[in-house]
Amino acid sequence: MGKKRKLVLFISTSLDGYIATKDESLDWLFKVEGEGDNGYSEFYETVDTILFGKRTYDWVMKQGIKELPYKNKECYVFTRSSLDDKEDVKFINEDAVHFTNKLKNQEGRNIWVVGGGELLHSFIKNKLVDEFIIKVAPILLGTGIPLFREGDYPLNLSLKGVRNFNQFVELHYEVKK
Ligand SMILES: NC(=O)c1ccc[n+]([C@@H]2O[C@H](COP(=O)([O-])OP(=O)(O)OC[C@H]3O[C@@H](n4cnc5c(N)ncnc54)[C@H](OP(=O)(O)O)[C@@H]3O)[C@@H](O)[C@H]2O)c1
Repeated sequence: MGKKRKLVLFISTSLDGYIATKDESLDWLFKVEGEGDNGYSEFYETVDTILFGKRTYDWVMKQGIKELPYKNKECYVFTRSSLDDKEDVKFINEDAVHFTNKLKNQEGRNIWVVGGGELLHSFIKNKLVDEFIIKVAPILLGTGIPLFREGDYPLNLSLKGVRNFNQFVELHYEVKK
């Protein structure tokens, strides 16, 4: 059996730790001058499963697309409602931590948690995240939807690498077990 697959957060944030404005705009992020695809395709190859909170999924679907742009990956959306699965996505309303632990114990490539902050919070509180890859955009938003929520969850991290993609700084951390 290979190494246990990891749960990895791959996300962009403002310097002051917001992933969107309060009205869920990411315009500030798309204005930042990056480099190439900012490491996206390299990361994308390392995962075969993708997790979303329902608000993040809704945001993606509001961008004028008919289906998720994640072909050949297993996509799960966590929600406390009961929703019918679609061809390209399954809606999960069982306990997110229990479900994700089961996924982590299956064979496969790594698992990408796209966000947002609320879903991430459940995973952090329960020490499920193995790595954080965070791209910091050169902007202070002052207010917005926070990447990290307040909570009693100290996590010690070890820095695996720092890269920059033009104006973005990518911080790559591994959780110390
Ligand atoms: N900057 C970036 O790279 C980036 C990345 C991802 C997201 N975002 C942005 O972040 C915003 C959304 O973040 P958010 O923190 O507000 O919301 P979120 O975490 O995406 O979604 C919250 C919703 O997910 C469901 N959920 C969360 N935790 C759950 C759990 N433990 N069990 C079951 N269901 C759970 C609930 O859905 P129900 O209400 O249906 O029960 C909850 O209302 C969007 O604007 C998105 O565009 C930005």
